[in-house]
Amino acid sequence: IKKIGILTSGGDAPGMNAAIRGVVRTALGEGLEVFGIRDGYQGLYENRIERLNRYSVSDMINRGGTFLGSARFPQFKEEATRLTAIGNLRKNEIDALVVIGGDGSYMGAMRLTEEGFPCVGIPGTIDNDVAGTDYTIGYFTALSTVVEAIDRLRDTSSSHQRISVIEVMGRHCGDLTLSAAIAGGCEFIVIPEVEFKREDLINEIKQGFAKGKKHAIVAVTEHMCDVNELAAEIEAAVKHETRATILGHIQRGGSPVPYDRILASRMGEYAVQLLLQGFGGRCVGIQNEKMVHHDIIDAIENMKRPFNQELFDTAKHLF
Ligand code: F6P
Repeated sequence: IKKIGILTSGGDAPGMNAAIRGVVRTALGEGLEVFGIRDGYQGLYENRIERLNRYSVSDMINRGGTFLGSARFPQFKEEATRLTAIGNLRKNEIDALVVIGGDGSYMGAMRLTEEGFPCVGIPGTIDNDVAGTDYTIGYFTALSTVVEAIDRLRDTSSSHQRISVIEVMGRHCGDLTLSAAIAGGCEFIVIPEVEFKREDLINEIKQGFAKGKKHAIVAVTEHMCDVNELAAEIEAAVKHETRATILGHIQRGGSPVPYDRILASRMGEYAVQLLLQGFGGRCVGIQNEKMVHHDIIDAIENMKRPFNQELFDTAKHLF
């Protein structure tokens, strides 16, 4: 291969820029040309492709977001759209594509690979919900942001002796909520992997107050329920002032923490080495601190991210 393309797709994540930098610097060092594609698969479809040089990624290691831009582009599910995209890659004489994103982005990469265009996926999302890797780029930065927010909410909820219900991102994965709840000392955790009954939660909170608790923090993964409604229900049942806070997109921004920068740099470098070794249709991961790669089709269709039940059980003992 002589020319590779790179794009970031789906929700942005801190560390995506560091991953692009890792790819660009490694590829240039190996004598390859690198082309950046703007705004994910949408820019690929619209042929918004430009050559990158080593200075394109200067001062990027510490920057949040993605300088290439990202987009959600459901039209990429259509074969005709992908064929236009492949045509654009060929027009630019690009031989292989690196896709940084979550599992929706992997889906596009899988389809392109099946249709004859080799792609390598790098997991970039704050949700930590991608198969074949222990951690995704952006997860640890988001974790730190969420914990900081919980610390702040703790100050005010303890001053006012209130219950605080906090909605955390993660799509359908509770990793961010669970880890943030442990680090933030939350009393109650509601995550999609564990069955949740409102009555049980309310009873547990009541018991906590009966034992002398003065305030409480409940961490809830998004999409589990309407946190404002839940807060009202808790307030009525426990007879204790309750406030809901939706952390929202704040969780996606900010300068990546060192671990994300290192992870992103390693994954970027590794992806290029894979392409140079002739691998296509792979996704990169970190497992037990080692770089690994898996068949992207296998990762999407057969591999599941294991839920860390032990961590959840530990959390329960800390309340
Ligand atoms: O996948 C990252 C993520 O931030 C999820 O946690 C969240 O559900 C979703 O993206 C929000 O998407 P959007 O930015 O398109 O509203």
